[in-house]
Amino acid sequence: MTALNGFSLAYIERRTDWTSELFSLRVNGVPVRFQAGQYVKLALYDETNKLISRPYSIVNAPLNSSDMMEFLVIANPNGALSPRLQNLREGDSIYVADKAFGDLTFNSIPKQTQNLWLFSTGTGIGPFLSLLDDINFRPGCEKIVLVHAVRHEKDLVYRYLIDQLVKQYEGRLIYLPIVSREQSDFALYGRIPQLIDQGILQDKLDLPLAAETTFTMLCGNPEMIKETLSVLQSLGLEKYRRKTGGHILYERYW
Ligand SMILES: Cc1cc2nc3c(=O)[nH]c(=O)nc-3n(C[C@H](O)[C@H](O)[C@H](O)COP(=O)(O)OP(=O)(O)OC[C@H]3O[C@@H](n4cnc5c(N)ncnc54)[C@H](O)[C@@H]3O)c2cc1C
Ligand SMILES: NC(=O)c1ccc[n+]([C@@H]2O[C@H](COP(=O)([O-])OP(=O)(O)OC[C@H]3O[C@@H](n4cnc5c(N)ncnc54)[C@H](OP(=O)(O)O)[C@@H]3O)[C@@H](O)[C@H]2O)c1
Repeated sequence: MTALNGFSLAYIERRTDWTSELFSLRVNGVPVRFQAGQYVKLALYDETNKLISRPYSIVNAPLNSSDMMEFLVIANPNGALSPRLQNLREGDSIYVADKAFGDLTFNSIPKQTQNLWLFSTGTGIGPFLSLLDDINFRPGCEKIVLVHAVRHEKDLVYRYLIDQLVKQYEGRLIYLPIVSREQSDFALYGRIPQLIDQGILQDKLDLPLAAETTFTMLCGNPEMIKETLSVLQSLGLEKYRRKTGGHILYERYW
């Protein structure tokens, strides 16, 4: 693989297969500076020598001692890049863009936030794990709710890391898994916007989604974001804008 403007060549240090479609790639060898919660572009050449690049969230927080970055990916069988990422093996090369982007970061959380709600679907949990794992910039909110909505219980990934984080946050972090396509003893059943609209999430935690106390971040499926935005707005929360503030910040994956 040859040098490429704006990208560096890294290698796959480790891969983890969570399900037949869902996997994590640990990439090493690239000193990209990023803030917890951001994303970078990954790229590979296809058989016709065309470069295919797509953004992927970094799951880990920045590390002082290593250039490691981990990504959580779902393979879209008809997609151009994600099946190629799924075919990568340990030791294989991959291009990683030199610059990271994204606003789902510590600096975006208003300092007065009492309750921080992090709503994710599927691989959209990635930036929130990064954000929560950054020991240098831990959100100081009284309560942090990590909502992860997936189709099946087997899609509830990184549970060992989440368990560790819950312990480290000493009661301030609540993990709320949701599954939509089967009943599960471990998770709530349904979809995020409906569960908010019916007050089920708020009642379960005895924590209102009130504009005076709350900041929310949303990541993943664009339809979930659209519907959740509308429900949150009906509760009096507003879209976050850098100049005027607000309560809802989101990142759509497609
Ligand atoms: C800021 C940002 C961060 C992202 N981070 C991640 C990440 O951490 N992990 C990840 O797996 N993807 C992530 N994505 C999506 C990723 O960039 C690609 O779009 C995805 O991997 C599909 O690429 P592809 O080339 O295989 O499919 P394409 O040939 O580009 O086909 C794209 C189609 O696949 C569907 N699609 C795209 N992404 C997803 C997804 N995650 N889940 C379900 N359907 C999808 C949509 O219908 C979309 O139109 C992110 C996207 C953005 C904009
Ligand atoms: N997860 C798998 O087992 C699987 C298997 C094969 C292929 N794929 C492909 O991988 C891609 C990503 O799948 P994914 O499971 O990671 O993500 P996803 O399809 O976005 O589903 C994640 C969660 O978001 C929910 N959701 C979907 N639309 C919503 C909306 N409008 N409002 C609120 N919640 C909504 C889903 O509920 P619902 O279940 O009700 O839709 C599910 O609980 C898809 O394109 C899929 O074709 C996934």
